[in-house]
Amino acid sequence: MEKMDIFCFLHVEDASALERLLFAPADACRRHHVGDEVHLRGLIEVSSYCSRQCLYCGLRASNSALGRYRMTREEILSSARLAHELGYGTVVLQGGEDAGLTGPFVADVVAAIKSLPGDVPLAVTLSLGERPDADLRLWRQAGADRYLLRFETSNAELFRRIHPSQPGGPSDRIAQLRRMREMGYEIGSGIMIGVPGQTYADLVNDITLFAELDLEMIGVGPFLPHPHTPLGAAVSHDAGVWPMQTPADRQDARDTAQVPNSELMTYKTVALTRLACPRANIPSTTALATLNQAQGRELGLMRGANVVMPNLTPPRYRALYEIYPAKACLHEAPGEFHASLLQRLAAIGRRPGQGQGSSRQNTVT
Ligand code: 5AD
Repeated sequence: MEKMDIFCFLHVEDASALERLLFAPADACRRHHVGDEVHLRGLIEVSSYCSRQCLYCGLRASNSALGRYRMTREEILSSARLAHELGYGTVVLQGGEDAGLTGPFVADVVAAIKSLPGDVPLAVTLSLGERPDADLRLWRQAGADRYLLRFETSNAELFRRIHPSQPGGPSDRIAQLRRMREMGYEIGSGIMIGVPGQTYADLVNDITLFAELDLEMIGVGPFLPHPHTPLGAAVSHDAGVWPMQTPADRQDARDTAQVPNSELMTYKTVALTRLACPRANIPSTTALATLNQAQGRELGLMRGANVVMPNLTPPRYRALYEIYPAKACLHEAPGEFHASLLQRLAAIGRRPGQGQGSSRQNTVT
């Protein structure tokens, strides 16, 4: 898809035009390329410790209001067993950048998950932030299949502003993604929609970068302001975080306008991502379900998404993994969520995926 087409779709507001020209084609593209199965990934939020200071994220190191936890090996394994019991093909181990999750510890947990008894071994996806290549290699050798690392925004300048570097030098998440691909991981990335400072031109570039990186997995969700973060505080006080340029002409004005962190903008981005990357695995994210608890998940699935990531974190830890406030499904027990999810999928004519649900097997044509 051309950048100009993406740009135009991002500006369409008329509901029936959007349905006809964007959402229906994205849904057809999803069905044609990846089918009606919805792959379920059991999300295990293994640690809320984080050494970074991202301006948007509630886990940032200096948020002293947040209680911190790190799951033990046994706790992680019992969540993984639950994934097996519920018939999920994949578990996702996600956490902050936590030095306490050492290379050998994670490698041992990955190997133990891969050898849990069951017909098909669980696929293991890691989402543990920016880590040294030595760790990434070790985890791959231990059996990890996939790695998620959102680049958050393709605008390098904006990324630097919202994501302070470590003393070692600037982050390069795109370079890490490419190295992980070389190591044999399936790679996933994604962005937040409407993070302060994100322009329409940036969002267009984000979507084309997904295609350029040939990602196996792409997660997009709305930015949700967290009051204990610099960006959350700025948004809730309705003040610009940094001055936006005043553009010289109208096209510039449309390029440089702030993208809203709205539900509709999220659906448009999901749909455009599907059209740009027909075979990718695309979740209908929890952040979207948080904006619209009644229907967000379903509408994401009907507008391009084909993955759901049910939360298998032990309920006593969930409230502490507060990336953003009022996360959907904070209190639902995994079994209850699963039963209602099956009904909700059936109601929209979809069925739970079988097997590991690798994008390399997405060959429905
Ligand atoms: N709102 C929405 N998404 C957020 N993330 C972090 N903070 C927020 C927020 N305030 C997303 C980032 C990160 C992922 C794990 O969660 O994109 O990569």
